[in-house]
Amino acid sequence: MVEDVSDALSEAREDVARFLMSYKFAIDTLMAKVNILNEEFRYTNDHNPIEHVGSRLKTPYSILEKARRRGVPLDLDSIAKEILDIAGIRVTCSFVSDTYAIRDMLAGHEDIRITEEKDYIRSPKANGYRSLHLLVCTPVRMSDRTVEVPVEIQIRTIAMDFWASLEHKIYYKYAKAVPQDLLDELRTAAETANRLDVTMERLHGEVRELGDRAQNPLPGPDELRRLPIAAELLDALADRVNSRRSD
Ligand code: GTP
Ligand code: MG
Repeated sequence: MVEDVSDALSEAREDVARFLMSYKFAIDTLMAKVNILNEEFRYTNDHNPIEHVGSRLKTPYSILEKARRRGVPLDLDSIAKEILDIAGIRVTCSFVSDTYAIRDMLAGHEDIRITEEKDYIRSPKANGYRSLHLLVCTPVRMSDRTVEVPVEIQIRTIAMDFWASLEHKIYYKYAKAVPQDLLDELRTAAETANRLDVTMERLHGEVRELGDRAQNPLPGPDELRRLPIAAELLDALADRVNSRRSD
């Protein structure tokens, strides 16, 4: 009897370990893909869209706590179906346009299926929180089968990340009962962070335009003359001017 219980327990422990492993592998494969996309983007667009990528796997304790809070039955199948943020990746980008570029690159990947998108950048939360949240599924090859594993990806700028990490700390410091004046100030700080993002995006565009012009300056008159099409145009114009003069 005691042996039966201990066998059952060690089997359950193994199931849980395998269960969590699939999420860890999903994180590993997605992190590798994100890093490849980052390098490819840098090659074609001349800048690194990603400042930092982080990941986290929920602990068994926090999975069980969330399942209990949400009324999810405490078995692995139900948890897999209902708790969709066991694996999480956070991508911190330089500019707002980069967050959407990363989203588009992930969407175009054959091994990544976006099942849900929440755009808190275009529609921020009432407290000022901004981020682009994707729920994606990616195949993970285990020794005996391939499983589709859900991963929550949060994409945000450095300014959004700065705000969110401070807000998170304050929220926990006040045991979720944050005084109203602090909430108001956080809301204002979120607007300031947003203005910073807008300014940085504009400066980024201006700097890039200057760079493009330095690399491809507008052709001067001599250079223009050397282009066959321009030479033809100039000749045609000269003919017209001359024929007018002789009229
Ligand atoms: P969860 O039960 O928390 O997963 O909520 P949800 O399924 O409705 O997802 P949602 O997209 O709203 O938020 C998921 C995650 O985004 C959270 O676990 C946080 O990491 C982050 N997040 C969402 N809202 C806030 C916020 O107001 N402040 C901060 N700091 N983080 C937030
Ligand atoms: Mg969630």
